[in-house]
Amino acid sequence: MSPVVEARGLKRDYEAKRGFFAAPATVKALAGVSFTLEAGRTLAVVGESGSGKSTLARLLTLIEEPTAGQLLIDGEDVAKADAATRKRLRRDIQIVFQNPYGSLNPRQKIGAALEEPLLVNTDMGAAERQKAARDMMARVGLRPEFYDRWPHMFSGGQRQRIAIARALMLRPKILVLDEPVSALDVSIRAQVLNLLAELQEEFKLAYVFVSHDLSVVRHIADRVMVIYLGHAVETGTREAIFSAPQHPYTRALLSATPVADPFAEKERIILNGELPSPFDPPSGCAFHPRCPLAFERCRREEPAVESKNGRDVACFAVPSN
Ligand SMILES: Nc1ncnc2c1ncn2[C@@H]1O[C@H](COP(=O)(O)OP(=O)(O)O)[C@@H](O)[C@H]1O
Ligand SMILES: [Mg+2]
Repeated sequence: MSPVVEARGLKRDYEAKRGFFAAPATVKALAGVSFTLEAGRTLAVVGESGSGKSTLARLLTLIEEPTAGQLLIDGEDVAKADAATRKRLRRDIQIVFQNPYGSLNPRQKIGAALEEPLLVNTDMGAAERQKAARDMMARVGLRPEFYDRWPHMFSGGQRQRIAIARALMLRPKILVLDEPVSALDVSIRAQVLNLLAELQEEFKLAYVFVSHDLSVVRHIADRVMVIYLGHAVETGTREAIFSAPQHPYTRALLSATPVADPFAEKERIILNGELPSPFDPPSGCAFHPRCPLAFERCRREEPAVESKNGRDVACFAVPSN
């Protein structure tokens, strides 16, 4: 099966002012990330706040362009695509944000919000648009009378259902979910995750699911990519990442994740210090100042991503098979 998304060495730098008198500095928000994603599958992208997850989400949804690297959507190289192709690709790839209230217009009723993408992008008539909106509302578990209500009348979970419904109106192939359940109560979280799983099955959607919390993606991910300061440090199947993590950063993230069985033997790794400033990233391996396994080479040299023990990992301390 050919991938619907292929990222090859995606990089994104930002010029940022550090102060009134200081010269602008470059932030390497994403330092070169590669992956492929097939229809009906979920890639989870996990890392601490500031690791470059939302930057990747903006590149994938064509909101921003990469500084370097290649992005192929449905086999089309986005950078080389003509205007008509880019327009089609934009429809194929939609995004859901963490805060659905921010992405809904407070002066637009739910029905109108759902129909807007159809109004802008298709030549559907009013009756057809209304039917499509009502059908999608039913599909995501919103009651018919919500059609005439305003965004402020809904709970966080309902608003996230509305945001998901809106993202699906143009029948995209790919959904980028940027911390879609992070703002929701734990009890509501599972409902929204179940809904996403059902919709994926029904519409054969590919998901890029961004989360700062590994435990959130435990059930929904097919593959997991762990990122640290813009670098993909370990990428593998869900089983590989959860049952035998190799990179010391993945192991630390996992050891901080609550487990179902509180008596299970569990290795606890406490990370030293905080995420370093992306203005001034460490030499060599970006993780070395916090790494319990770091040795001399890690300070000098940046580890390349290599296939080891059935996953792609960038670490000198992980032995080859
Ligand atoms: N528009 C921007 N201008 C300058 N710096 C940015 C911009 N967007 C993101 N950054 C920086 O890039 C890094 C990655 O940010 P982001 O992708 O939002 O991380 P995450 O979503 O994982 O929390 C952070 O250091 C952030 O401050
Ligand atoms: Mg973010």
